Amino acid sequence: MIQLTINGKGHSYDGDPSMPLLWFLRDVADLTGTKYGCGMALCGACTVHLDGQAIRSCVTPVAAAAGKKITTVEAVGADKVGHAVQAAWQKLDVVQCGYCQSGQIMSATALLKSNHKPSDADIDAAMSGNVCRCATYVRIRAAIHEAAGTLSA
Ligand code: FES
Ligand code: FES
Repeated sequence: MIQLTINGKGHSYDGDPSMPLLWFLRDVADLTGTKYGCGMALCGACTVHLDGQAIRSCVTPVAAAAGKKITTVEAVGADKVGHAVQAAWQKLDVVQCGYCQSGQIMSATALLKSNHKPSDADIDAAMSGNVCRCATYVRIRAAIHEAAGTLSA
């Protein structure tokens, strides 16, 4: 039996331990904010936090998340940094179609937790694995700077 803690809530799972965490989040825990894009760690749509680190849940086996703290976009706003990121996203109207954006927000939050004042180069490096087909990259970068400014004020 695998024990998972998702957004502070305990879950038990006795199925295939190699099943991707993304399937558990979406199909078992009914947390559909985390998206499926490529299934191959190439797009970032499925990004969640595992003990605060941004990971691709489409290639992370459920077993690898056992005993760790999993945070999804549904709960990231409860965190001070996550809240600032979401507020900046809204203020700068970052979203276009929205499909990639939960992953973008999770990666941006993980970045700002480890780097309180990232440069453009830091942002580009940290966010390079999150693809946006609507090309909202300029607004994403601006929103990360906005969130960093809010958090340092
Ligand atoms: S769905 Fe996981 S990186 Fe694309
Ligand atoms: S907002 Fe459409 S894919 Fe990013």
